[in-house]
Amino acid sequence: MAYALCVLIFFISLLQFALTENSFKNFQVQFRKKYVNNSELLLREQIFAKNLEQIEQHNARFRQGLVTYEMGVNKFSDLTSEEFQAFLRAKESPLPVQEKWLESTESPPDSIDWRELGAVTEVKDQGICGACWAFSATGTLEGLYQQKYGELLSFSEQQLLDCDSSAVGCNGGIVQYALQYVAESGLKIGEEYPYVQEKLTCQNTTNQTVKVYTKNYVGIPSYNETELKKAVGLIGELSILC
Ligand SMILES: *[C@@H]1O[C@H](CO)[C@@H](O)[C@H](O)[C@H]1NC(C)=O
Ligand SMILES: *[C@@H]1O[C@H](CO)[C@@H](O)[C@H](O)[C@H]1NC(C)=O
Ligand SMILES: *[C@@H]1O[C@H](CO)[C@@H](O)[C@H](O)[C@H]1NC(C)=O
Ligand SMILES: *[C@@H]1O[C@H](CO)[C@@H](O)[C@H](O)[C@H]1NC(C)=O
Repeated sequence: MAYALCVLIFFISLLQFALTENSFKNFQVQFRKKYVNNSELLLREQIFAKNLEQIEQHNARFRQGLVTYEMGVNKFSDLTSEEFQAFLRAKESPLPVQEKWLESTESPPDSIDWRELGAVTEVKDQGICGACWAFSATGTLEGLYQQKYGELLSFSEQQLLDCDSSAVGCNGGIVQYALQYVAESGLKIGEEYPYVQEKLTCQNTTNQTVKVYTKNYVGIPSYNETELKKAVGLIGELSILC
């Protein structure tokens, strides 16, 4: 009996721990969430609960080995997926025609971790600004630059936001055009042209310590893991069209 009670208490305290860990209150505190009024708060609480349920269902599948990754709460957990996409993803725009494709007959290594090879910068935060295209472009250039020159630098998303005239700032842009801009104008490091989460006037970028230029890029077909593995293993830098 004592044993059963013990187990039960243990179980309850575990359960409580899990509940408080992911409670909406905790979420609000952790991510400093303030809502304009009570109905907004209730709405966000409902959305959070729905997301949490989805996360828990997914993680149950993860524990059974049915999916390969775990999910968790983050600062976006009070948004519906439609809201999240509207905030962070670029608007649909016509893509440039992809003319060059990765054509390699080499086999990629079985595994590679570019972080261990020092080619990956820290995770960046685009904030509430649809600049994924700019981050996608800088990520690629940072890895390439490190592979070529041995130094890991963080390049300027803000310069792309302000100066790539094919893009509409926080409302979206296209990675390929951003890379074309970099081919023509070069790109400064982030420290010299820091990210401010909104499109401002393009600064004079003539004067700079480091400027990177692109020469070329190739495409890989969508939804093809074989090609994706080849590109990750043999080249490394990939931009995701977002
Ligand atoms: C609460 O705030 C939301 C979002 O700004 C607004 O749409 C809604 O009308 C407000 N509701 C009340 C009762 O003030
Ligand atoms: C260019 O850089 C130098 C050294 O960093 C600085 O002294 C100078 O004021 C800069 N000029 C412009 C136009 O930004
Ligand atoms: C940009 O700054 C450089 C000096 O660093 C200057 O020579 C050039 O005229 C400036 N360009 C523009 C468009 O202001
Ligand atoms: C992926 O690309 C390879 C060529 O590398 C091709 O043989 C294969 O059929 C493609 N798979 C799909 C699903 O398109």
